[in-house]
Amino acid sequence: TTAQITVRRDAVVAPLNRRIFGSFVEHLGRCVYNGIYEPEHPTANEDGFRLDVVELVRELGSTTIRYPGGNFVSGFRWEDSVGPREKRPVRRDLAWHSLETNQVGVDEFARWLKLTGSELMMAVNLGTRGIEAALDLLEYCNHPSGTALSDQRIANGTPEPHDIRMWCLGNEMDGPWQTGYMTADDYGKLAARTAQAMKAADRGLELVVCGSSGSSMPTFGDWERTVLEHAYEHVDFISCHAYYQERRGDLDSYLASSLDMQYFIETVVSTADHVGNKLRSSKKIKLSFDEWNIWYLDEHRESDEVNDEWRYAPRQLEDVYSVADAVVLGNLLITLLANHDRVASASLAQLVNVIAPIMTEPGGDAWRQTTFFPFSVTSRLASGDVLRPRIDVPSYDTAAHGAAPLVDAIVTADDERSAVFLVNRSRTESITVTVDVSELAASRITEAVTLWDDDVYAKNTLEDQERVGLKTLEGASLDEGTLTVVLPPVSWSAVALA
Ligand code: AHR
Repeated sequence: TTAQITVRRDAVVAPLNRRIFGSFVEHLGRCVYNGIYEPEHPTANEDGFRLDVVELVRELGSTTIRYPGGNFVSGFRWEDSVGPREKRPVRRDLAWHSLETNQVGVDEFARWLKLTGSELMMAVNLGTRGIEAALDLLEYCNHPSGTALSDQRIANGTPEPHDIRMWCLGNEMDGPWQTGYMTADDYGKLAARTAQAMKAADRGLELVVCGSSGSSMPTFGDWERTVLEHAYEHVDFISCHAYYQERRGDLDSYLASSLDMQYFIETVVSTADHVGNKLRSSKKIKLSFDEWNIWYLDEHRESDEVNDEWRYAPRQLEDVYSVADAVVLGNLLITLLANHDRVASASLAQLVNVIAPIMTEPGGDAWRQTTFFPFSVTSRLASGDVLRPRIDVPSYDTAAHGAAPLVDAIVTADDERSAVFLVNRSRTESITVTVDVSELAASRITEAVTLWDDDVYAKNTLEDQERVGLKTLEGASLDEGTLTVVLPPVSWSAVALA
């Protein structure tokens, strides 16, 4: 099988906004406690943060980090998480049935982000709280000084405001599992009022209203319409959340998961534009895909320890990812980039231990899961503009998504360099791909890597942390503006040119 890809320099989707490489840290399982934070660990700094984890987060290249939830945020009392640590209360977290010690809070997390070089994206609690708590948190975080809450932040040791630009108006408020979940009508009204009040404090904030928790939610579409009818003029983004997994051994369908993400994005865009047109608004709502990943949710429902104990940092949602999972993740990132004109921000959910590219062992190592690689390489190599290539390739049949092209790809380019990211979804065949890069700054190949293995279910584990890694993409060649690569079956690859 062969494929031809043509790249035109003017086929620009959007200039690259690095917020597309965001991630997500929730107070859940061992993401924060015994994940990024472990004061007894040999690499811990004075705040208790593991510096070996910080190093991996930097290598991953995640930019904006959403915090502190997730479902957790719907029970979050932000005031508990600031001030002298010894005075902070221990609370029950109903979302994950765990104990929250509040030893990591808003100020510590902002300090951690300085180490990783990332931007903070904060969520407010609209499940059990409302406008007042949201405004208080905003004042505490962003007001320079001279008010009760900004002076409290200063007294707590943070003289400069955190200056948080992006704020989520609650989390998954359409989900019956969410503490305080609402109808679209109720939530739309609350979100609109909260947004209006927050923007009265700072017109420059970028606010994200909750969209659907997934495209299979019974209210999908209607939820977005109703919520935006209330909140359109007050918000900037609507959120999308999507998790994928292989089901019933149907690898063919699984490898085409990004077609569902494409459908999801198109539906939300057309719904948002419908509301905007009805309201005669000149504004376009952007999408914040602020939870996306692979998650073996069906299996967790059965296997995660469920008991009545209130535990600290239990092992929850600790998926161990395969080569096939990494290929799907790389393809989902291609789809996010392909829709970058509307998907202006995205957060891989999550970052450490909990459905995460980075794993840690208390007192021990931190290592990269298979899914780490496509994310980190894309974040490192992408630059300039995102370009939509034309892809001529045969399709294959899938039970879940119908016909799926065997190859998917996206391109980025600036005046000095370019990069092509590709997946081969075929389970059996290598595919030779020729890419017309004649309009790009491309006179030599500077890097050509692939994530591929004879065993598509190979994984990195505590015992075998480097079983899967990047390999050189053998045989990549560039000749008079034509790049030729041979993509192994079930693979994700990247070629950088200069
Ligand atoms: O990322 C794990 C959970 O998935 C989040 O807490 C929630 O928002 C979603 O259902």
